[in-house]
Amino acid sequence: MSEKITLSVIKADVGGYVGHSSIHANLIETAKEKLSIAAEKGILIDFHVTRCGDDLELIMTHEHGVDAEDIHKLAWNVFVACTEVAKKLKLYGAGQDLLADSFSGTVKGMGPGVAEMEFEERKSEPVIIFMADKTASGAWNLPLFKIFADPFNTAGLVIDPTMHEGFIFEVVDVYEQKKITLSTPEEMYNLLMFIGAIRRFIIKTVYRKDGMIAASASTQKLSLIAGKYVGKDDPVLVVRCQAGLPAVGEVLEPFAFAHIVEGWMRGSHNGPLMPVAFYEANPSRFDGPPRVIAAGFQLCHGKLIGPRDLFDDPAFDGARRRANEIADYLRHHGPFEPHRLGLDDLEYTTMPQLMKKLEHRFIPE
Ligand code: 13P
Ligand code: 13P
Ligand code: MG
Ligand code: MG
Repeated sequence: MSEKITLSVIKADVGGYVGHSSIHANLIETAKEKLSIAAEKGILIDFHVTRCGDDLELIMTHEHGVDAEDIHKLAWNVFVACTEVAKKLKLYGAGQDLLADSFSGTVKGMGPGVAEMEFEERKSEPVIIFMADKTASGAWNLPLFKIFADPFNTAGLVIDPTMHEGFIFEVVDVYEQKKITLSTPEEMYNLLMFIGAIRRFIIKTVYRKDGMIAASASTQKLSLIAGKYVGKDDPVLVVRCQAGLPAVGEVLEPFAFAHIVEGWMRGSHNGPLMPVAFYEANPSRFDGPPRVIAAGFQLCHGKLIGPRDLFDDPAFDGARRRANEIADYLRHHGPFEPHRLGLDDLEYTTMPQLMKKLEHRFIPE
């Protein structure tokens, strides 16, 4: 068997239980059944089904490469089958993220989030899959910068000679549908100028300077696809670790700081991204605060050995406690910015309708 494998993480919210807080076990079971059949047929090498909040996460390994129609179609069909289950149970927002009526070659631009990478499996291949709920694509910008470009986070940038050259970041302008590649450490300040604007410039891929792929993030923006608010992107991120790449602990380290992301209630509020164990990924307070889980796997000839629940560690208790304090503080602002998103972002909510209704009441000052 060729050791070149593809790791695909494709996710969608196809119905919440209860409200947007979590997922019903029948959806997970349905997804597992469907993917088992695909694995038996040889379409997949292996798979793992999980969820973060109300988002169903399909983690799959195969030999079809990225953007493979067979794999995207499989994921789409799983989401359609799970939507049927969600409809039968009248779960909340059944089929929420399926924005197209039918599949047409790729799930990209159809609602689901996708992070994929193809690579030669190394002698040992530890990977971490981060999955978030109640937040938007762009939430990974800060941690990805810290992991691959900040020597105060990643000791390996200083200590490991194979990382000394730095990394290359591919950044997408999601409004203009353009991308730029920037190299660190040389172009660090240029990079930060863009990726600090997390709503528009989103890190999609990170490479080592010898071309080795190190990280891949989902960049889909549901509101831009739908032209209105339909739920949050709830992005995923795949990071390869160790041996010439940041260590598992270096990859997790940025999450010890619960940075502020957009999302939370009605996708319209800023709040801290709280790192939690799998069983705690049920955002209920004000539909949040936003959550992130980290599933660690060792790949073995494409088999997913794992997952390890990497935020199930008291060392992240401090981040959780602080996230709760920040959540309290921000909540006190109620409908005021900067807790509530700025006007530009509310364009994708019910703000335009409200504006239309009251437009005629505005008179010259
Ligand atoms: P409603 O659809 O009940 O207004 O809920 C808003 C919401 O959370 C949309 O995702
Ligand atoms: P999700 O994007 O997780 O469905 O959340 C939607 C929402 O409006 C929560 O208040
Ligand atoms: Mg939902
Ligand atoms: Mg969600």
